[in-house]
Amino acid sequence: MHFFLGNMKNIFTTAERIDIGMLKERMKEAIKVAQHVGRFIKENREQVGEVRMKSSNTDLVSDMDIHAQKHIIDGLKNHFPTDSFWGEESEEALEENAHQLWVIDPIDGTTNYLYHLPFCAISIAYYLSGSPVIGVLHAPFLGEDFYAMRDGGAFRNGKQLFISQTHRLSEALIGTGFPYSLELREKEKKRYNHLLPACLDFRCLGSAALELAYLAAGRLDAFFEPELHFYDVAAALVLVEEAGGVYSQIDGAPWDITSNTLIASNPVLHPQLVNILQKRNRKNEE
Ligand code: IPD
Ligand code: CA
Ligand code: CA
Repeated sequence: MHFFLGNMKNIFTTAERIDIGMLKERMKEAIKVAQHVGRFIKENREQVGEVRMKSSNTDLVSDMDIHAQKHIIDGLKNHFPTDSFWGEESEEALEENAHQLWVIDPIDGTTNYLYHLPFCAISIAYYLSGSPVIGVLHAPFLGEDFYAMRDGGAFRNGKQLFISQTHRLSEALIGTGFPYSLELREKEKKRYNHLLPACLDFRCLGSAALELAYLAAGRLDAFFEPELHFYDVAAALVLVEEAGGVYSQIDGAPWDITSNTLIASNPVLHPQLVNILQKRNRKNEE
């Protein structure tokens, strides 16, 4: 496969000038590893091993998730032995201050995977000094590779991606997901009640990473979710930004790795979404 990266600018100051070649090499390897592991999880869908519950009885994990993560980390470590690695299924704590950090969600959309639905993706992000600079998603059942490098554009199977230009909320198709916690589902339902009558429609595809890649590709106009983790979206947010999108927490505050809510869209829809989703918190509003 040929990776077109556009006219990449050097994003770093002279003091921390980074070899763009080193980033390109990492992105290329991440795509290769994701495709390799993608083939494996596709071919072995009937042998997922044990399925367990994690944070709640609606949050599932299988032996395959753990196996996939090990293969991704081993594959990348082979090429980049001095980098740091952390994945959703890692037992050790995240080294937040690591200079060169890979963040992996081995299967985003595990429930879909276990139910033989095609919407799931291997998600690999690369952080340099705390800033996400590479995002790679491979969707094995859809035959799609999404990838982006900071200041280099976002791409799907070699074609550059641009966020949608829908500027009216009433015309916006919005991707979303529901919390795993039953208590939060109950608490957050007003946000959905406010937004649904104001937009074109919702889509809940079961993989936040893939929904954000679809947003970058203009297949959705916006995305929001009231409970997710940074590793669900770390790679996909590089795609969104490189396709011309913006993102924040639900209250409009800047998003970082400690955030657990997300709104993403083009810059015109974004303030409209923040406004309507914040209604939940306003007094006397149902
Ligand atoms: C989940 C998916 C889902 C989203 C959840 C995530 P997982 O990730 O992205 O769409 O609604 O918040 O946790 O558990 O399949 O890796
Ligand atoms: Ca996962
Ligand atoms: Ca996930």
